[in-house]
Amino acid sequence: MSRERAIAVIDSGVGGLTVAKEVMRQLPEERIVYVGDNARCPYGSKSPEEIRAYSFQMIDFVMKSPLKALVIACNTATAVVLEEAKAHLPLPVIGVIDPGARAAVKATKTGHIGVIGTETTIRTKAYERALLRVQPDLIVSGMACPPFVPLVENHMADTDEARRVVRETLAPLVGEELDTLILGCTHYPLLAPIIQEVMGDQVTLINSAEETASELANQIAAIKSIQTREVPQHLFVTSGETSRFRSIAEEWLKCPVQVEHHSLEK
Ligand code: SIN
Repeated sequence: MSRERAIAVIDSGVGGLTVAKEVMRQLPEERIVYVGDNARCPYGSKSPEEIRAYSFQMIDFVMKSPLKALVIACNTATAVVLEEAKAHLPLPVIGVIDPGARAAVKATKTGHIGVIGTETTIRTKAYERALLRVQPDLIVSGMACPPFVPLVENHMADTDEARRVVRETLAPLVGEELDTLILGCTHYPLLAPIIQEVMGDQVTLINSAEETASELANQIAAIKSIQTREVPQHLFVTSGETSRFRSIAEEWLKCPVQVEHHSLEK
Protein backbone atom coordinates (compact mmCIF):
# COMPACT_ATOMS: atom_id res chain seq x y z
CA MET A 1 0.00 0.00 0.00
CA SER A 2 1.24 3.51 -0.84
CA ARG A 3 2.66 5.57 2.05
CA GLU A 4 1.32 8.87 0.65
CA ARG A 5 -1.26 10.41 2.93
CA ALA A 6 -4.58 9.85 1.20
CA ILE A 7 -8.11 11.21 1.47
CA ALA A 8 -10.39 8.42 2.70
CA VAL A 9 -13.93 8.44 1.31
CA ILE A 10 -16.34 5.95 2.88
CA ASP A 11 -19.90 5.04 1.96
CA SER A 12 -22.40 2.23 2.32
CA GLY A 13 -21.88 1.45 -1.37
CA VAL A 14 -21.40 3.27 -4.68
CA GLY A 15 -23.12 6.54 -3.69
CA GLY A 16 -19.95 8.09 -2.28
CA LEU A 17 -18.46 7.93 -5.78
CA THR A 18 -20.46 11.12 -6.45
CA VAL A 19 -18.35 12.80 -3.75
CA ALA A 20 -15.10 11.06 -4.81
CA LYS A 21 -15.61 12.36 -8.36
CA GLU A 22 -15.88 15.94 -7.10
CA VAL A 23 -12.84 15.48 -4.82
CA MET A 24 -10.88 14.25 -7.88
CA ARG A 25 -12.03 17.35 -9.83
CA GLN A 26 -11.24 19.90 -7.11
CA LEU A 27 -8.13 18.21 -5.68
CA PRO A 28 -6.60 16.33 -8.63
CA GLU A 29 -3.27 15.74 -6.86
CA GLU A 30 -4.78 14.00 -3.86
CA ARG A 31 -4.85 10.22 -3.65
CA ILE A 32 -8.21 8.69 -2.66
CA VAL A 33 -8.81 5.50 -0.73
CA TYR A 34 -12.50 4.70 -1.27
CA VAL A 35 -14.40 2.09 0.72
CA GLY A 36 -17.92 1.00 -0.20
CA ASP A 37 -19.70 -1.44 2.11
CA ASN A 38 -21.80 -2.80 -0.77
CA ALA A 39 -22.27 -6.17 0.93
CA ARG A 40 -24.35 -4.52 3.68
CA CYS A 41 -25.91 -1.67 1.67
CA PRO A 42 -28.40 -0.04 2.18
CA TYR A 43 -27.62 1.46 5.58
CA GLY A 44 -30.70 3.70 5.50
CA SER A 45 -33.11 1.02 6.70
CA LYS A 46 -30.81 -0.36 9.44
CA SER A 47 -30.81 0.45 13.16
CA PRO A 48 -28.54 3.24 14.46
CA GLU A 49 -26.50 0.57 16.32
CA GLU A 50 -25.85 -1.36 13.09
CA ILE A 51 -25.06 1.82 11.14
CA ARG A 52 -22.61 2.87 13.87
CA ALA A 53 -20.92 -0.56 13.99
CA TYR A 54 -20.59 -0.83 10.19
CA SER A 55 -19.38 2.76 9.81
CA PHE A 56 -16.66 2.26 12.43
CA GLN A 57 -15.58 -0.97 10.70
CA MET A 58 -15.01 1.08 7.53
CA ILE A 59 -13.21 3.76 9.56
CA ASP A 60 -10.95 1.16 11.25
CA PHE A 61 -10.15 -0.26 7.81
CA VAL A 62 -9.15 3.09 6.25
CA MET A 63 -7.25 4.20 9.36
CA LYS A 64 -4.69 1.47 8.56
CA SER A 65 -3.52 3.76 5.70
CA PRO A 66 -1.72 7.05 6.30
CA LEU A 67 -4.51 9.64 5.88
CA LYS A 68 -4.88 13.38 5.55
CA ALA A 69 -8.64 13.48 6.06
CA LEU A 70 -11.74 11.31 6.19
CA VAL A 71 -14.91 12.08 4.24
CA ILE A 72 -18.04 10.28 5.42
CA ALA A 73 -19.70 10.34 1.99
CA CYS A 74 -22.91 8.73 3.18
CA ASN A 75 -25.73 10.85 4.57
CA THR A 76 -27.04 8.05 6.76
CA ALA A 77 -23.63 7.43 8.35
CA THR A 78 -23.06 11.19 8.65
CA ALA A 79 -26.37 11.54 10.52
CA VAL A 80 -25.43 8.74 12.95
CA VAL A 81 -21.63 8.86 13.52
CA LEU A 82 -20.16 12.20 12.34
CA GLU A 83 -19.93 13.83 15.78
CA GLU A 84 -18.46 10.72 17.41
CA ALA A 85 -15.93 10.25 14.59
CA LYS A 86 -14.90 13.92 14.79
CA ALA A 87 -14.43 13.66 18.55
CA HIS A 88 -12.28 10.51 18.42
CA LEU A 89 -10.18 10.66 15.25
CA PRO A 90 -6.90 12.60 15.04
CA LEU A 91 -7.62 14.06 11.57
CA PRO A 92 -10.18 16.29 9.84
CA VAL A 93 -13.51 14.44 9.41
CA ILE A 94 -16.03 15.84 6.96
CA GLY A 95 -19.65 14.76 6.54
CA VAL A 96 -22.06 15.56 3.73
CA ILE A 97 -25.05 17.05 5.56
CA ASP A 98 -23.81 20.52 6.59
CA PRO A 99 -22.27 21.16 3.14
CA GLY A 100 -25.55 20.09 1.45
CA ALA A 101 -27.57 22.33 3.75
CA ARG A 102 -25.31 25.33 3.04
CA ALA A 103 -25.59 24.77 -0.73
CA ALA A 104 -29.40 24.58 -0.48
CA VAL A 105 -29.66 27.80 1.52
CA LYS A 106 -27.52 29.54 -1.13
CA ALA A 107 -29.83 28.25 -3.88
CA THR A 108 -33.34 28.84 -2.48
CA LYS A 109 -35.27 32.00 -3.34
CA THR A 110 -38.61 31.11 -1.73
CA GLY A 111 -37.19 29.60 1.48
CA HIS A 112 -39.06 26.31 0.95
CA ILE A 113 -36.58 23.44 0.69
CA GLY A 114 -37.32 19.75 0.16
CA VAL A 115 -35.04 16.98 1.40
CA ILE A 116 -35.11 13.40 0.14
CA GLY A 117 -33.01 10.72 1.80
CA THR A 118 -33.06 7.35 3.49
CA GLU A 119 -35.44 6.52 6.32
CA THR A 120 -32.70 7.11 8.91
CA THR A 121 -31.55 10.42 7.44
CA ILE A 122 -35.11 11.76 7.34
CA ARG A 123 -36.07 10.32 10.75
CA THR A 124 -33.06 11.92 12.50
CA LYS A 125 -34.05 15.35 11.05
CA ALA A 126 -30.32 15.99 10.59
CA TYR A 127 -30.91 18.12 7.48
CA GLU A 128 -33.72 20.08 9.08
CA ARG A 129 -31.45 20.99 12.01
CA ALA A 130 -28.54 21.84 9.69
CA LEU A 131 -30.76 24.01 7.47
CA LEU A 132 -32.41 25.87 10.35
CA ARG A 133 -28.99 26.55 11.91
CA VAL A 134 -28.07 28.44 8.73
CA GLN A 135 -31.46 30.15 8.23
CA PRO A 136 -34.10 29.74 10.97
CA ASP A 137 -37.15 30.86 8.93
CA LEU A 138 -37.00 28.15 6.23
CA ILE A 139 -39.83 25.73 5.46
CA VAL A 140 -38.40 22.20 5.16
CA SER A 141 -40.29 19.23 3.67
CA GLY A 142 -38.55 15.88 4.17
CA MET A 143 -39.39 12.59 2.50
CA ALA A 144 -37.76 9.16 2.72
CA CYS A 145 -37.26 7.36 -0.62
CA PRO A 146 -36.23 3.78 0.34
CA PRO A 147 -36.50 2.28 -3.18
CA PHE A 148 -33.87 4.62 -4.69
CA VAL A 149 -30.63 3.15 -3.26
CA PRO A 150 -31.32 -0.42 -4.53
CA LEU A 151 -31.89 0.98 -8.04
CA VAL A 152 -28.45 2.56 -8.01
CA GLU A 153 -26.67 -0.36 -6.32
CA ASN A 154 -28.19 -2.76 -8.87
CA HIS A 155 -26.91 -0.62 -11.75
CA MET A 156 -30.47 0.25 -12.82
CA ALA A 157 -30.29 4.07 -12.58
CA ASP A 158 -30.93 4.53 -16.29
CA THR A 159 -33.87 2.17 -16.82
CA ASP A 160 -37.64 2.43 -17.35
CA GLU A 161 -38.09 0.74 -13.98
CA ALA A 162 -36.09 3.55 -12.33
CA ARG A 163 -38.27 6.16 -14.11
CA ARG A 164 -41.44 4.43 -12.86
CA VAL A 165 -40.19 4.08 -9.26
CA VAL A 166 -38.91 7.67 -9.04
CA ARG A 167 -42.16 9.08 -10.49
CA GLU A 168 -44.33 7.09 -8.06
CA THR A 169 -42.15 7.76 -5.00
CA LEU A 170 -41.83 11.51 -5.55
CA ALA A 171 -45.53 12.05 -6.41
CA PRO A 172 -46.39 13.49 -2.92
CA LEU A 173 -43.62 16.12 -3.26
CA VAL A 174 -44.49 17.25 -6.78
CA GLY A 175 -47.43 19.44 -5.69
CA GLU A 176 -45.41 21.18 -2.93
CA GLU A 177 -44.22 24.70 -3.61
CA LEU A 178 -40.55 24.04 -2.93
CA ASP A 179 -37.95 25.58 -5.24
CA THR A 180 -34.93 23.58 -4.04
CA LEU A 181 -34.58 19.85 -3.41
CA ILE A 182 -31.63 18.37 -1.52
CA LEU A 183 -30.51 14.97 -2.80
CA GLY A 184 -29.88 13.90 0.79
CA CYS A 185 -28.32 10.57 -0.09
CA THR A 186 -25.09 10.32 -2.05
CA HIS A 187 -26.63 7.63 -4.29
CA TYR A 188 -29.31 9.98 -5.59
CA PRO A 189 -27.15 12.11 -7.96
CA LEU A 190 -26.97 8.99 -10.15
CA LEU A 191 -30.76 9.33 -10.52
CA ALA A 192 -30.61 13.14 -10.92
CA PRO A 193 -31.78 13.35 -14.57
CA ILE A 194 -34.94 11.37 -13.72
CA ILE A 195 -35.55 13.25 -10.44
CA GLN A 196 -35.21 16.57 -12.34
CA GLU A 197 -37.67 15.41 -15.00
CA VAL A 198 -40.22 14.41 -12.35
CA MET A 199 -39.84 17.54 -10.17
CA GLY A 200 -39.68 19.99 -13.10
CA ASP A 201 -37.12 22.60 -14.13
CA GLN A 202 -38.36 25.14 -11.56
CA VAL A 203 -36.80 23.01 -8.80
CA THR A 204 -33.04 23.26 -8.23
CA LEU A 205 -31.48 19.94 -7.23
CA ILE A 206 -28.72 20.09 -4.62
CA ASN A 207 -25.97 17.51 -4.68
CA SER A 208 -23.74 18.03 -1.63
CA ALA A 209 -20.63 16.69 -3.41
CA GLU A 210 -19.33 20.05 -4.65
CA GLU A 211 -19.70 21.85 -1.31
CA THR A 212 -18.28 18.83 0.57
CA ALA A 213 -15.18 18.78 -1.65
CA SER A 214 -14.73 22.55 -1.12
CA GLU A 215 -14.92 22.09 2.65
CA LEU A 216 -12.37 19.28 2.39
CA ALA A 217 -10.08 21.51 0.29
CA ASN A 218 -10.28 24.25 2.98
CA GLN A 219 -9.63 21.85 5.83
CA ILE A 220 -6.57 20.22 4.27
CA ALA A 221 -5.12 23.42 2.77
CA ALA A 222 -2.73 23.74 5.69
CA ILE A 223 -1.67 20.07 5.71
CA LYS A 224 1.51 19.67 3.73
CA SER A 225 2.64 16.30 2.49
CA ILE A 226 5.09 15.10 -0.10
CA GLN A 227 3.30 13.95 -3.23
CA THR A 228 5.41 11.29 -4.91
CA ARG A 229 3.42 10.99 -8.14
CA GLU A 230 1.83 13.45 -10.53
CA VAL A 231 -1.16 11.22 -11.18
CA PRO A 232 -2.35 9.68 -7.92
CA GLN A 233 -3.14 5.97 -7.90
CA HIS A 234 -6.51 5.80 -6.21
CA LEU A 235 -7.63 2.66 -4.39
CA PHE A 236 -11.22 1.40 -4.47
CA VAL A 237 -12.32 -1.23 -1.99
CA THR A 238 -15.69 -2.94 -1.79
CA SER A 239 -17.06 -5.52 0.61
CA GLY A 240 -19.34 -6.66 -2.22
CA GLU A 241 -18.94 -7.79 -5.82
CA THR A 242 -15.94 -6.18 -7.51
CA SER A 243 -17.31 -6.50 -11.07
CA ARG A 244 -20.54 -4.59 -10.43
CA PHE A 245 -18.70 -1.97 -8.38
CA ARG A 246 -16.17 -1.51 -11.20
CA SER A 247 -18.87 -1.08 -13.91
CA ILE A 248 -20.74 1.57 -11.91
CA ALA A 249 -17.51 3.35 -10.87
CA GLU A 250 -16.04 3.42 -14.39
CA GLU A 251 -19.32 4.71 -15.84
CA TRP A 252 -19.61 7.45 -13.21
CA LEU A 253 -15.94 8.46 -12.94
CA LYS A 254 -15.25 8.01 -16.66
CA CYS A 255 -11.86 6.37 -16.07
CA PRO A 256 -10.57 2.84 -15.44
CA VAL A 257 -10.57 1.86 -11.75
CA GLN A 258 -8.80 -0.89 -9.82
CA VAL A 259 -11.13 -2.51 -7.29
CA GLU A 260 -10.14 -4.77 -4.39
CA HIS A 261 -12.48 -6.90 -2.32
CA HIS A 262 -12.17 -6.84 1.48
CA SER A 263 -14.55 -8.11 4.08
CA LEU A 264 -15.05 -5.36 6.65
CA GLU A 265 -16.53 -7.63 9.28
CA LYS A 266 -14.45 -8.28 12.38
C1 SIN B 1 -27.87 3.97 2.25
O1 SIN B 1 -26.93 3.19 2.44
O2 SIN B 1 -29.01 3.63 2.62
C2 SIN B 1 -27.69 5.28 1.53
C3 SIN B 1 -26.49 6.05 1.76
C4 SIN B 1 -26.76 7.52 2.10
O3 SIN B 1 -27.58 7.80 2.96
O4 SIN B 1 -26.11 8.45 1.51
